[in-house]
Amino acid sequence: MRTTSTKKTLVTGGCGFLGSFLCERLVAADHDVLCVDNFYTGSKANVAHLLGNPRFELMRHDVTFPLYVEVDEIYNLACPASPVHYQFDPVQTTKTSVHGAINMLGLAKRVKGRIFQASTSEVYGDPEIHPQTEAYWGRVNPIGLRSCYDEGKRCAETLFFDYRRQHGLAIKVARIFNTYGPRMHPDDGRVVSNLIVQALRGDPITIYGDGTQTRSFCYVDDLIEGIVRFMATDDGCTGPMNLGNPAEVSINELAATVIELTGSRSPIVFAPLPSDDPVQRCPDIAFARERLGWEPQTALDEGLRRTIAYFDALLSSAPGAIRAPQSCAGGRGNG
Ligand SMILES: NC(=O)c1ccc[n+]([C@@H]2O[C@H](COP(=O)([O-])OP(=O)(O)OC[C@H]3O[C@@H](n4cnc5c(N)ncnc54)[C@H](O)[C@@H]3O)[C@@H](O)[C@H]2O)c1
Repeated sequence: MRTTSTKKTLVTGGCGFLGSFLCERLVAADHDVLCVDNFYTGSKANVAHLLGNPRFELMRHDVTFPLYVEVDEIYNLACPASPVHYQFDPVQTTKTSVHGAINMLGLAKRVKGRIFQASTSEVYGDPEIHPQTEAYWGRVNPIGLRSCYDEGKRCAETLFFDYRRQHGLAIKVARIFNTYGPRMHPDDGRVVSNLIVQALRGDPITIYGDGTQTRSFCYVDDLIEGIVRFMATDDGCTGPMNLGNPAEVSINELAATVIELTGSRSPIVFAPLPSDDPVQRCPDIAFARERLGWEPQTALDEGLRRTIAYFDALLSSAPGAIRAPQSCAGGRGNG
């Protein structure tokens, strides 16, 4: 029997990059946090500072299997997010998105709890419109190397909205755009971590394509603020809602900034663009601005400084623990 009004909150994928910051934020807001993770890409090290906190509990569990726990609300983040990881075992990636969504929605239905889904800008595929609004249905290849992730996330969105229509669930679906910050996996091939690790090690800096393709990068603290505000909206606010930073930067500009901030003397080398890598990606965040009064606050320079400091400390403490980012056909890209 529950004796306090403290919210019991489940975070799946809580040992990952975004999940660990979310757990931290919720614990600080006095939630009782149950962090569930199968350690596929996440690690205990990301939540080590929370392990002694009585408000925090860690459970090893794979969301493709049902979970029977008593909670008030659920943040569903479990899913590898970088191409190199999600393409390593693509069938498991689709299962994590689809079976994971079914299991977490079933749990939300049983406990009558609110549920948040970490969807992605990848549901827009290689978009024909720019910037992308939530009304855009996307242009996604259903049979390519990235489809396990893109289509898995699209199917998860379908499930969320069908559970809403069929069972009246309180859902919150956020389409997250590229986010960066400390605790990113150092060798997952994502462009920010790739460039920083290469620059700090003095290795050649790899740019896929000609570097004119653009991305918009959101600092992790800003994204977590958006997620928490979204979860606090009334039940009518289901999304999908874009969360990201609309400030666009080309990969060439990003590389130049990283080189400047690290003082690196690494040369830049160009490599072929992986398949289905979008040319341009930028969120329209008008909906989030209006409903959440939210927009990113951290300038790219500032966010990169904090991220560089994290990787610098990591490389100094365990230089052998980080593999130099390598080329991997189809697996790496600028996302
Ligand atoms: N970081 C971004 O830029 C970004 C952008 C769009 C969407 N997202 C979404 O946000 C979520 C978190 O992304 P992230 O960047 O923190 O990635 P991440 O890989 O660091 O974290 C994912 C976490 O999920 C766990 N996980 C994977 N499969 C699981 C399973 N079957 N059962 C239980 N746990 C499992 C991993 O071990 C890891 O801890 C993902 O759903 C991702 O698709 C992230």
